[in-house]
Amino acid sequence: MAGRRLTLSANSVLLCLKVFSGAESLSIRDRIMAMQLLPFHRPEVTDDEIQSVVETLRSGWLTTGPKVKRFEQDFAEYLGCRHAVAVNSGTAALHLALEAIGIKEGDEVIVPTVTFAATAEVVLYFRATPVLVDCLPDTLNVDPKQIERAITAKTKAIIPVHFGGQPCDMNSILELAKHHHLKVIEDAAHALPAAYQGRKVGTIGDITCFSFYATKTITTGEGGMATTENPEWADRMRMMSLHGISLDAWDRYTDKGSWYYEIIRPGYKYNLTDIAAALGIVQLKKSDQFWQARHRIAAHYHLAFADLPEIQVPASIPDIQHAWHLYVIQLNIERLRIDRRDFIQALKSENIGTSVHFIPLHLHPFYRDGFGYKPTDFPQASAIFERIVSLPIYPSMTETDVRDVIVAVRKLVKEYRR
Ligand SMILES: Cc1ncc(COP(=O)(O)O)c(C=O)c1O
Repeated sequence: MAGRRLTLSANSVLLCLKVFSGAESLSIRDRIMAMQLLPFHRPEVTDDEIQSVVETLRSGWLTTGPKVKRFEQDFAEYLGCRHAVAVNSGTAALHLALEAIGIKEGDEVIVPTVTFAATAEVVLYFRATPVLVDCLPDTLNVDPKQIERAITAKTKAIIPVHFGGQPCDMNSILELAKHHHLKVIEDAAHALPAAYQGRKVGTIGDITCFSFYATKTITTGEGGMATTENPEWADRMRMMSLHGISLDAWDRYTDKGSWYYEIIRPGYKYNLTDIAAALGIVQLKKSDQFWQARHRIAAHYHLAFADLPEIQVPASIPDIQHAWHLYVIQLNIERLRIDRRDFIQALKSENIGTSVHFIPLHLHPFYRDGFGYKPTDFPQASAIFERIVSLPIYPSMTETDVRDVIVAVRKLVKEYRR
């Protein structure tokens, strides 16, 4: 069992104390489990965030208003982009981005198979087709050569996903897009803050979409942001995020407020609340500090696993800043007497929480059955899926937490080495 966590006997003491005190609201088992396991993720929320949210709650203005405006301005300034449109999820940002560039029924949009559901499902909202492509074996980012092979006369856009926070090969992707007149909508759900050859992610493609879901590098609970240099797309996304009503109707949310508005298009209900933005404003201020902490943890892991041929650590391409949202190791299963599923289970027995990013889309019933995709269509992603394990990486991990992860991984490798 990893050193610092409660031992069985300490748990037993706790259990006895709780039983005898009779003051049990959580189940004892839940409580003990919570105290033992190093969770895969824990959001960084301190009194600063709580105070900011409470101020907003007391202000009398809960929905989209001054805090959202401030969050957008701060975000645009942080990245150095012209426009930032806040919405209530990363999925909403992706949906609005595709709408803004004019995706229509019958269009094709190229999407990596190694991603979360959202990246492809937003294409289906338009009755357009997400065309899945394979990844590179080292970074797990989309393979530009496979993008090129997938381009047809119907292709309208590419959605590169900066997997785990490591920027994709944007030079190749932008070159392909230029050559074939395609738009590039970056899925940067993992990539704040990240940079590619000196350019911050959020200032590179046509539109970039961020997520502030609870596990992301900064969070608003649920939330997202779309960034772009194009004022028409920004206006369009802002308008469509609030029922497609005229932009000046947003003044309803200021002291210029008026009862009058016009519906320009049938839009969506994707606006962010001021409550969420109050959290986001404070989190954004800490984004670099959070990154430093994750970067340090990644460096510890790299060093600690460098001598283990059974573990492949994440590859880093030169001249990028990796956001380190995820730290995904690949198990060289040929060298181990344990498969990925049991490795995760064994880590759990060592009280280390982990996850898997991602089950490639082509292996899910909807894409497998609906599109007839086979594992052999995506040899890299299919093979990698059997090997990947995401280790905990978040700022509040103590040195002991990081050490516990390292000790547990090394212990299992030693135990199950062929
Ligand atoms: C790669 C990727 N894209 C998009 C999303 C969607 O973000 P949200 O949950 O904010 O809608 C996620 C969320 O996990 C993600 O991991």
